[in-house]
Amino acid sequence: MNQLHRNDWNQWWRSAAIYQVYPRSFSDSNGDGIGDLGGVLEKIDYLEQLNIDAVWFSPFYPSPQHDTGYDVADYLDINPEYGNLQTFDKVLAELHARGIKVIIDVVPNHSSWEHPLFKQALAAQPGDSARDMYMFRKSSDGAPNNWGSMFGGSAWSKVEPLSGKASDRDWWYLHIFDASQPDFNWENPKVHEFFRSYLRFWLDRGVDGFRVDVAHGLVKDPALPDDLVGPDRLNYEGPNSENGRALDVGPFFNQPGVHDIYREWRQVLDEYGRDRMLVAEAWVNTPEQEAMYVREDEMSQAFNFSVVNCPWEPGALRKVIRRTQEASASVGAPATWVLSNHDTVRHSTRLGYPTGANTDNGIGVTDPQPDREIGLTRALSATAFLAGLPGSIYLYNGEELGLPEATTLPDDARQDPTWKRSGYRVRGRDGCRVPLPWSNNPSSNFGFSPARASSPWLPQPADWGELSAQVQESNPYSPLNFYRKMLATRRSLGLGMGKSTWLDSDPEVLSLLVTASCGRKVIVATNLAVGYRPLPQLALSKGTKVLLQTPTIISEDAAPSVEDSGIGPGQTLWIEI
Ligand code: NOJ
Ligand code: CA
Repeated sequence: MNQLHRNDWNQWWRSAAIYQVYPRSFSDSNGDGIGDLGGVLEKIDYLEQLNIDAVWFSPFYPSPQHDTGYDVADYLDINPEYGNLQTFDKVLAELHARGIKVIIDVVPNHSSWEHPLFKQALAAQPGDSARDMYMFRKSSDGAPNNWGSMFGGSAWSKVEPLSGKASDRDWWYLHIFDASQPDFNWENPKVHEFFRSYLRFWLDRGVDGFRVDVAHGLVKDPALPDDLVGPDRLNYEGPNSENGRALDVGPFFNQPGVHDIYREWRQVLDEYGRDRMLVAEAWVNTPEQEAMYVREDEMSQAFNFSVVNCPWEPGALRKVIRRTQEASASVGAPATWVLSNHDTVRHSTRLGYPTGANTDNGIGVTDPQPDREIGLTRALSATAFLAGLPGSIYLYNGEELGLPEATTLPDDARQDPTWKRSGYRVRGRDGCRVPLPWSNNPSSNFGFSPARASSPWLPQPADWGELSAQVQESNPYSPLNFYRKMLATRRSLGLGMGKSTWLDSDPEVLSLLVTASCGRKVIVATNLAVGYRPLPQLALSKGTKVLLQTPTIISEDAAPSVEDSGIGPGQTLWIEI
């Protein structure tokens, strides 16, 4: 079975363009300022016209929203703010009817502290089996070890204030993220059983796959040893750190035992057929470590975050892209390409800063602001480059509008737990989560909500309307219409299922020859130099055709044609030869 799983090169996810919907921010159908599944139903045509192959929904489960739904209080239902299971079934049916697959987010490292299993654990006595579903430890001398939370501060909190029991005085529970997100104990077979039945529940409903949250974090070193970093992970300069924070290494990340879990899950998915998929969110440090998650009998694919962390610099980009291709090929898995998601600064903003600028802590009004024009030009170029390559590409809602990060959000509107837990030092991720603009009408939250709605859950910048889908619709050169064309071309040629070879004649230009699944040959090239560069040699022969071109840093009117001048600064071209 697993052999077949790997060898079927037509599996949809190998080449899909997968669009992430962040439910709270996508579209609000009832005017409470909060996105919902009814809002998704209103945008089915939009999703179809975007020419995506699948939608990935960030968590939509009942949740107290201390981490925007990544704190799940019930894995088998829908947050009433978003709708109910019937609304979900409708969304699923509508998307399937348009040939769009559906991936949902599974959060297996931790639940919400409002999950009945955690409540039962708190109600039980220390040592009771109900407590064994989570990571409780006794320690009379401070926290059981020095582990820090990913959101700042200790990864341990005291049990007594939650349970109200004097017998809990020396007891602690582990939470690698917020205190409202207690970690499950994956050494307990009942936790395995719980998630196997979770998978079946949603597979029975018809979902096509799961995005696995913190896939590298479920298993901890059983000795719970102190780590090198200590409790301040957001302010750490030692080994395994980057930009003043600890990387995802240590006794609670990437332990060998996590792989057993995904072997087990693969078997559950295989009961439903080979087209159901798993994609790992595993922030490991090398493409080789990442490839371990997509070995033959484990997951289908893993997000490749190396490009997210890569500067706009030809040598560095070439290196991470090559390395990704080699590592995924070594295990027979497709490459995945990711530039933005709900945890990163939007790439149109990230790329608008000079090389070396650090935006990892989020951006506030008092921080240096990006160059929006350069950022957008590079963002479209980077997206078009990766979308032209074999593999699947993940897109984050709003990037098709060229939306920038909201870099001037008032600090008192921030909701990311990191802001508070870091002592108001690390601003966090709210800037990429602001509700999307659908029209130019401010009274409907720029079309996010119906008219005269409540304010959106995060405030929208005043110029959001000009970036809206409605405004972009009528402009043939808008990012929205560019994305539609790019994804249509990618799909019709089968570029995602192609084979590629590097051309690399110019150190400033990344260029590959992609032989699409239909047999047609396309040069995919990006110019990272500040001036024009000649086209790759192969593109100069007679009869070549420019299939796609992104804008150059120089404005449209002044830009000479590709045929006359070659590839413009910051530009990506797809040229059929
Ligand atoms: C990764 C998710 O993408 C992020 O948004 C969340 O805060 C953490 N995992 C914890 O679930
Ligand atoms: Ca709503």
